[in-house]
Amino acid sequence: MIRFENVTQRYRGTPQPALDGVDFEVERGEFVFLVGASGSGKSSCLSLITREITPSEGRVLVLGRDTRTLSDRRTPYFRRNIGTVYQDFRLLEKKTVSQNIAYALRVIGRSRAFIKHSVPEVLERVGLDGKGKRLPSELSGGERQRVAIARAIVNGPQIVLADEPTGNLDPTTSVEIMRLLEQINADGTTVVMATHEAGFVDKMRRRVIELNDGRLVRDELGGAYGDTSALATLRPEVVRGASAQQAFTAATELRRDVEEGRVEPVTSVDLPAQRDAAPAPAPAPITVDVDEVGMADRLGIDGSDDEVGPTS
Ligand SMILES: Nc1ncnc2c1ncn2[C@@H]1O[C@H](COP(=O)(O)OP(=O)(O)OP(=O)(O)O)[C@@H](O)[C@H]1O
Ligand SMILES: [Mg+2]
Repeated sequence: MIRFENVTQRYRGTPQPALDGVDFEVERGEFVFLVGASGSGKSSCLSLITREITPSEGRVLVLGRDTRTLSDRRTPYFRRNIGTVYQDFRLLEKKTVSQNIAYALRVIGRSRAFIKHSVPEVLERVGLDGKGKRLPSELSGGERQRVAIARAIVNGPQIVLADEPTGNLDPTTSVEIMRLLEQINADGTTVVMATHEAGFVDKMRRRVIELNDGRLVRDELGGAYGDTSALATLRPEVVRGASAQQAFTAATELRRDVEEGRVEPVTSVDLPAQRDAAPAPAPAPITVDVDEVGMADRLGIDGSDDEVGPTS
């Protein structure tokens, strides 16, 4: 789903590469912590995945696409499969909670009907039921981050990237946000989270990729193993079975194909893929990374291009 092949990233005017020969692969449905000291290259990894930057050397493959050969024109469609969450929330301050989420959907051309039912649904999912009419300034930090997460997942992306999502939150609120990310992962979304929070990493026993000065120095399944008593509720969910995972993926992809008109809807056949999928399939895996400024430019949608993102 995400593969780094000997990736080196050099920024202009800096002698040391930000990433130096980094190799790793993230499978569909994984929860991965990206850890390392400040400046070790975590955010650079996430920017490579979203194609904010392309590698100076090596290859980054995301959802079956080589980010270096992906065109700028297709990038907005590619990004709809990736939800992003940041430390500073990045909400539109003058819009209400619901409007923040609806805006992200409108920009990618989702219908009024879709927006109408999906916004309250996602608010409920992130625990913000009834808070849709508030402005971000009327929310706590944890609630603001929930809005950002709601916006990231409202279209059912295949991947959620979180860059220090608990960096501005107190420990209790951070635990709640981690639980929410765990739930999203348990529903089948791949989650990659950059963090300084050694506490979570030690206690959650998830895969840990550690960077040091741009080099990958640890890639450990299950991560550190510590005393989980203080955070019992953060124990990992039971890993979804491979067949359930495949069925879920197939159902999600089929659903998107139907929605995008590539496949006729099937109404009379009970598809095994749909029958076997453990949770209800997520809606079309489309999302958008909202920036208050320059969003339309980044999305660059023109009416003739109906392509959606990659599927593998
Ligand atoms: N746009 C840029 N131009 C030049 N250098 C950059 C740029 N972005 C990052 N760097 C450099 O690349 C290195 C890795 O930065 P990166 O932001 O990926 O680290 P990080 O692990 O996310 O750090 P932090 O924990 O502080 O967020 C740093 O030395 C940083 O100064
Ligand atoms: Mg960073």
